[in-house]
Amino acid sequence: MKETFYITTPIYYVNDVPHIGHAYTTIACDALARWHRMKGQKVFFLTGTDEHGEKVNKSATQQGIPPKELADRVVTRFQGLSSALTISNDGFIRTSEPRHYASVQDIFRKSHANGDIYLGAYEGWYCTPCESYWTDLQLVDGTCPDCRRPAEKRKEPSYFFRLSKFQKPLLGYYERNPRFIRPESRRNEVIAFVEAGLTDLSVSRTSLTWGIPVPGADGHVIYVWYDALTNYITGLGYPKRTEAFDTFWPADVHMVGKDILRFHAIYWPAFLMSAGIEPPLGVFAHGWWTVEGQKMSKSLGNVVDPYEMVEKYGADAFRYFLLREVPFGKDGDFSRKALVDRINSDLANNLGNLLNRSLNMLAKYFGSVVPSPSAPELSDEGLLCAGREILPAADAAMEEVEFHKVLAAVLNLSDAANRYIDTNAPWALAKDPARKNRLGTVLYHALEAARVSVLLMSPFIPTAAQRMWEALGCDGRVEKATLSEAGRWGGLRVGATLPRSVIAFPRIED
Ligand code: MSP
Repeated sequence: MKETFYITTPIYYVNDVPHIGHAYTTIACDALARWHRMKGQKVFFLTGTDEHGEKVNKSATQQGIPPKELADRVVTRFQGLSSALTISNDGFIRTSEPRHYASVQDIFRKSHANGDIYLGAYEGWYCTPCESYWTDLQLVDGTCPDCRRPAEKRKEPSYFFRLSKFQKPLLGYYERNPRFIRPESRRNEVIAFVEAGLTDLSVSRTSLTWGIPVPGADGHVIYVWYDALTNYITGLGYPKRTEAFDTFWPADVHMVGKDILRFHAIYWPAFLMSAGIEPPLGVFAHGWWTVEGQKMSKSLGNVVDPYEMVEKYGADAFRYFLLREVPFGKDGDFSRKALVDRINSDLANNLGNLLNRSLNMLAKYFGSVVPSPSAPELSDEGLLCAGREILPAADAAMEEVEFHKVLAAVLNLSDAANRYIDTNAPWALAKDPARKNRLGTVLYHALEAARVSVLLMSPFIPTAAQRMWEALGCDGRVEKATLSEAGRWGGLRVGATLPRSVIAFPRIED
């Protein structure tokens, strides 16, 4: 196993407040970061805000304030997401910080010195909301092929990055690193795009002042994507040769939405190659959420506010729903009903119920003290076997970033434990004093299944997991436990006194 793990979210534009799309990537990264920490790896998890460029400038102008003021105001909403959603990020970067200016100018200078940046003039169709130039061929009925809003013709002096030179190196990199772009279908899309030929990329603007100045070229600011992508190395201290940089670069995974994959899988490795820096090891593109069957938009008034979700359902429920409901990488639809149903069936009725009913019976039959199990009988085998298989299965799914499979597997285990209780009927065993040992064994295994489930579920629902962890008499913070403890059946402490009950997930009545 690699000793370190570096994971990043995209940095979010501060032209508007956070919505479900931002929360989604951040939550996914958080679950992965927590999982890898519990595997014993040294993890660095970076998130932040993208503050330059036309989009932010335009929004600030509309509000009659300088762009920095808008950024200062909105950034607090993104920073606040960390505590609202229980996000364990190790760093937060703002592209308006001096450390980032130094970083972007340094990599720009290196590419320039290597002959990969040159001065030219750019003419094209520009889409302001997407901050992208398009060619005649790419336009769709005069509109931007990404957002379908009208594009305008523009010409300006511009520095260009020799992207065309990197077609072969990029294709070679994709070939040598088959897991660089995931999922597979996205990888094929990117390869096809690169194979079709790359044109040089305009990487400066003279039409804008809200950005990082091109070193030694008055009037030019660096194109927002060049600026933004560089955050991933600034966050580790670049251009200084820091210990963090040496430890964590290249990044293991840049998590991104499908709409910004191209920037991460094509531009970013090319910028790095040109500056003599290793490209990242992976980029994973996830799908998009619609809301109640419709595209999310301000005009429709259906934008899902993560703060409101947390207030209404709690951070764990929101986190769990987003990662359980839809296979990561696929598009999905958000609805409150689906969320409530999911939480009630999986968390309240299944895992929560397993723990609570086991505690109730432990109180009733053993004065709440965990009994010592006797040698397993045939009817224990199914559950013990499920317990042995869960960790390798969950870890393999996590490697593939298949959160829904991990969660389904854990749910299966707690479901198996609930059925195990039903079949072994502790209430019947309790009637016969001669079967006290057997009764103790059954309760022990039921509680142990809850312990293993809680441990594996903790990266997804950290707050409830901690509550359940404590209710199971386990010491310390669950996130400090290692995943390998889920692979050893029998971690539940014999002789521990547990509470009579715990309602980790009350049923939601919406
Ligand atoms: N600033 C750039 C990223 C620069 S990274 C070097 C950016 N910012 S963004 O705020 O517009 O979008 C950030 C992320 O939110 C993107 O990954 C995008 O895919 C994601 N989402 C925006 N709307 C979304 C949904 N409706 N559903 C899921 N994710 C969505 O792009």
